[in-house]
Amino acid sequence: MNENFKLDMKKRPRRLRRSAAMLSLCAETEIQPSSLILPVFVKEGKGGSDKIPSMPGVYRLSIDSLLRLCERALKCGVRAIAPFPQVGADGKSPRADEALNPKSLANRAIAAVKKRFPEMAVAADIALDPYTSHGHDGILDASGEWILNDETVEILAAMAIIAAQSGADIVAPSDMMDGRVGAIRDALDDCDMVDTSIMAYSAKYASALYGPFRDAIGSSPKGGKKKYLDKKGYQLNPQNAREALREAALDEDEGADIIMVKPAGQYLDIVAKIRERTNLPVAAYQVSGEYSMICAACDKGWLDREKTVAESLVSIKRAGADIILTYFALEFAERAR
Ligand code: PBG
Repeated sequence: MNENFKLDMKKRPRRLRRSAAMLSLCAETEIQPSSLILPVFVKEGKGGSDKIPSMPGVYRLSIDSLLRLCERALKCGVRAIAPFPQVGADGKSPRADEALNPKSLANRAIAAVKKRFPEMAVAADIALDPYTSHGHDGILDASGEWILNDETVEILAAMAIIAAQSGADIVAPSDMMDGRVGAIRDALDDCDMVDTSIMAYSAKYASALYGPFRDAIGSSPKGGKKKYLDKKGYQLNPQNAREALREAALDEDEGADIIMVKPAGQYLDIVAKIRERTNLPVAAYQVSGEYSMICAACDKGWLDREKTVAESLVSIKRAGADIILTYFALEFAERAR
């Protein structure tokens, strides 16, 4: 080794990494708990919480337990939730009739949260999968193979009105039918619900990462050949990027207030591209499979949980998401305090 070896170099990027203070001074991205949405699973009954085996640390909550979770969320600065109901067999039918019940579990949960915590923003999921006996997000045609678009959209628009009347600040169509954002906007406006926002799942991919979510809400068909349904007839093909841009542009045109990309971590290119093309807030959903993969590796001691969670979220933010839906919201926000 030559002791006198010195690079003749003016530009040394490492200067900015010299100390913790310098690092944080130069940090480009930071996540505020108030930009997170916590997805929550709701079940019937009182005083209960069920474990979800494929999502350790996440529970299906009765409405009263959900209210306690909301209190915890608000304490650490998380001010938005997205409830998903686990609907029992008696609430499932081919045409998803329960989706239009103003007293459905989902609508009761929305109303209860808004009554107790009016300051909490609630995003209602608008899709039929919790309510269909076959588990699809829409109504099947006679062949049983294809989801009927317009018939489904008619139901979704009615569902959105009921969710808004139950108190939802945001309605979030997650179904991927064509034209649903415009139909929902028209329906809301016709009922004078002009202030209800639409967060469109614009680029929702036909991803393998939704499995644990389907376990959580019980939307996987029982006894079929495959454990999880194929939704490629409406959700986006993971091979495509331009198609996502087209969907986002259509939804913006139809009146979406927020554009969402889902999943998040494996679709950061899509988040970044949509960010460049819209002035609307962009949301990204770190889905159940992303959560479960991190939990599984950390439980084995193969990854450091705190660092892995923080890195997964900051990557989504850095790619361009303003809003992140994540099951880690409370864990992250409580650490940030
Ligand atoms: C369905 C819906 C899904 C998710 C949210 N809404 C799954 C699906 O398309 O089957 C997945 C969320 C997650 O995996 O965390 N409308």
